[in-house]
Amino acid sequence: MQIKIRKATKKDFNTICKFVNKLDDFETTLTPILSNSKARRLEVRNGVAEKLASSKSKYFLAEVDGSIVGAGCATIVEPTKAKFTLRKVGLLEKLFVSEDYRGKGIATKLIEARMTWLRKQGVEWFESNICANNTVSLKASEKAGFKPYSIIMHKYEF
Ligand SMILES: CC(C)(COP(=O)(O)OP(=O)(O)OC[C@H]1O[C@@H](n2cnc3c(N)ncnc32)[C@H](O)[C@@H]1OP(=O)(O)O)[C@@H](O)C(=O)NCCC(=O)NCCS
Repeated sequence: MQIKIRKATKKDFNTICKFVNKLDDFETTLTPILSNSKARRLEVRNGVAEKLASSKSKYFLAEVDGSIVGAGCATIVEPTKAKFTLRKVGLLEKLFVSEDYRGKGIATKLIEARMTWLRKQGVEWFESNICANNTVSLKASEKAGFKPYSIIMHKYEF
């Protein structure tokens, strides 16, 4: 099986939205505070369009035999100068691999490609927000060398 990783273009807009929607559907099963409502679907479309148009973001896609089977986004953020010593932070976001293609190293390749692009933009610090109970994603992130540095504590009162 040959896996091709490529940068997305505006033509990939609908495909990317489908992947982000699938990620939302999955994440709503992990935590009840997340939503995959109609309003959220619209927010996803706006967010994807914004990222495709921005020089600070890049979506990467994984292809097998001409079909897109995975996606992930890299975004550069600039933290507030007063608080942080870092000038550029690279966010790895919106990672999703189609069920039939999991466990074949596709996420690993999507992480590598996004980190390579972010490094070229001057990023030395990489971050990824992962739900604490998303054990598979945590493992994939650890495999790429990531470690936890901040933990959001929560308590449900509803
Ligand atoms: C998380 C996800 C992107 C991983 O994609 P993938 O292509 O299957 O991952 P890889 O094949 O590159 O595996 C990377 C590592 O993750 C871990 N991993 C992958 N699948 C696993 C599984 N089913 N159980 C436990 N660990 C697993 C392993 O450590 C693996 O490394 P190894 O193969 O050397 O052991 C995929 O499962 C997915 O799309 N899940 C739903 C969406 C999601 O959680 N996205 C991330 C949001 S933060």
